[in-house]
Amino acid sequence: PAGRARRRRLVCRGDTVRKRSFKQKRVTAMGILDVKIVRDYIRMCTDGWEQGWHERNGGNLTYRMRPEEVEQCRPYFRTAGEWVSMGVTGKNLAGEYFLTTGSGKYFRNVALDPAHNIGIVEIDSAGGAWRIVWGLEDGAKPTSEFPSHFMNHSVRAAATEGVYRVIYHAHTPNLIAMTYVLPLTARDFTRALWQSATECPVVFPGGVGVVPWMVPGGADIAIATSELMKQYDAAVWAHHGLFCSGPDFDTTFGLMHTIEKAAQIWVLAQSAGQGKICQTISDDNLRAIAGEFGVTLNEAFLD
Ligand code: 13P
Ligand code: ZN
Repeated sequence: PAGRARRRRLVCRGDTVRKRSFKQKRVTAMGILDVKIVRDYIRMCTDGWEQGWHERNGGNLTYRMRPEEVEQCRPYFRTAGEWVSMGVTGKNLAGEYFLTTGSGKYFRNVALDPAHNIGIVEIDSAGGAWRIVWGLEDGAKPTSEFPSHFMNHSVRAAATEGVYRVIYHAHTPNLIAMTYVLPLTARDFTRALWQSATECPVVFPGGVGVVPWMVPGGADIAIATSELMKQYDAAVWAHHGLFCSGPDFDTTFGLMHTIEKAAQIWVLAQSAGQGKICQTISDDNLRAIAGEFGVTLNEAFLD
């Protein structure tokens, strides 16, 4: 009996050890890629790639993190890098943390190797510089459009009392094609897009802004875009692509998707009709949609 008791103790001890080591393994296997906001961010990058909006390193995505999301990620932060000036300032974003895609990095690769293709940056107390606290490994940097993203975040956060958190830039082919054909005005683009699909006035009742062709990646285009973002959720970059803003990934991706799909319909209709349009959604139709769906259309764009 003494031998049997000893055997039982050993088995019990063995079980405990096994259980403990299993538990320990689960704890150490948890990583930043298990944090929901990081997973959702990566999913949006993959979704954009699958839409065909991100050839090579085209496009970029930034997300202003909630304090609790920063705390979920903080255990995985490394010693912060050097502060790097952005050339623009957004005082209301001092001390914030952003998820960002890397400059020259491919959306196609984000899910395969997040740590080299995306990262988290912290903004300094003056709102004018960033430093890397996670990811962007082996010398990578935030997107070259970070100044534009940052200024857009600054004005969208101010305009929405902090509700807007996402800025998304994509190279949407049909919308880019439109910028060779239509006059580069907010009115021309908004009307063409609203008339291209019945849901459009409901999804972006405020319309879209248009930035004329400018050199990408610097402070000038950042300031020009953010001026428009005071008023619009989306800004077209002539011969380049589109910037969209929103409170979360679904809404922002949905806005990009809706605008690009409307642009595709516009291009198809123009091509099929060889520029001759027999009928379209009238301004009275647009007003009726707005009334039914309880949205206020930007009257400046209606006749
Ligand atoms: P990045 O690779 O620096 O993000 O640039 C891509 C892009 O779309 C520039 O407008
Ligand atoms: Zn671009």
